[in-house]
Amino acid sequence: MSSFDNYWYPDTLGINFNPKIKNWNPTDPIREEIVPPKDRALFADPQKKALLSVAEATPLTESIGTLLEGVQLSQLNETQLDELALLVAERGVVFFRDQDLTTDTQVKLFEHYGILDKHPAQKEVRHVTIKGSSSDWRRDSVYTPWPQAGWHADTSFEINPPSYSMLRMEEHPEVGGDTAWVSQYGIFDALSPTYQKLFENLHAVHTSRLQYDTILDLWGVGPNRPPIDTHHPAVITHPVTGLKAWNVNEGFVTGFAELKKAESDKLLDFSILHIHAADDELVRWKWKVGSVAMWDNRAVLHRVIPGKYPSGSRKGVRTTVFGGKPSFDPNSESRDERERRKAGQKDGGPAETNGTRGVRGEANGING
Ligand SMILES: [Fe+2]
Repeated sequence: MSSFDNYWYPDTLGINFNPKIKNWNPTDPIREEIVPPKDRALFADPQKKALLSVAEATPLTESIGTLLEGVQLSQLNETQLDELALLVAERGVVFFRDQDLTTDTQVKLFEHYGILDKHPAQKEVRHVTIKGSSSDWRRDSVYTPWPQAGWHADTSFEINPPSYSMLRMEEHPEVGGDTAWVSQYGIFDALSPTYQKLFENLHAVHTSRLQYDTILDLWGVGPNRPPIDTHHPAVITHPVTGLKAWNVNEGFVTGFAELKKAESDKLLDFSILHIHAADDELVRWKWKVGSVAMWDNRAVLHRVIPGKYPSGSRKGVRTTVFGGKPSFDPNSESRDERERRKAGQKDGGPAETNGTRGVRGEANGING
């Protein structure tokens, strides 16, 4: 069947547009709020000496992403795993090549970080299989309520959204199927001070409703839980780094609780443009079999870059743990504010407070 066969579907779909959705009865109840165990990054040595004495760390961009080489995740002890969590919270995502983890050892390793999450479409209790996207994502939104290849933080609609995720690639095409991550510290700092204040006073409505419909409509599986809508602060204070992080995403946020609909729709449009335009806060990763990425959903958004590689040629194993309920502390600082404060302390002079960026970006005469 070609992707054009259902092209007559309207682009605004009602909740009952597919009888499979109306008739499905989820097997599990909606989750209650939990208090997860203390984040392992909070046990780590800020210098990360145990980890960085055995691994070579290379930052991949100024804003986000570090490659760790010369180390097998399977050999890390608990002290080193705690330091890895701190590095992930700070850099957003950390990458590894040629790892010897199996699904069992990955699950065991990730249990160190807390209670393992279960995705609404997940049948295995301890991990989820990630395939990728080779459909036409620009047309998908005509057929399905959910932007399948959109920027998201994993299951951000949960009352306890995931903190850390780890994806290990078992099968992969030679080219295509890259994943990109964007820093939520960075895209908050990229806003003007006026917009920063606006978002700090809003709650974003994160919903699983659209993905729920899509799981039933396109994936051919039944979600195990009913859909939920959760109001989370549109800017959070990261519980490990203490930094302000943007908390709006394309995949699950449908609006802002405090706004009128027209205001909310326009601000969401802006938000999606803002994320897509943030090349300077982005890292793009080319996978190979045996590659691993570990990221912090509270600090980054991610998206698979859709391609034309053969369906079934990409297979990854993802493990995820629950985080705490997101919160915002108006007295917390953004990453740029912290860097300016620290630069000011080092110089012995007052920290810069003029609201401009510039710690990591000197003006260049020639672009490119
Ligand atoms: Fe994801």
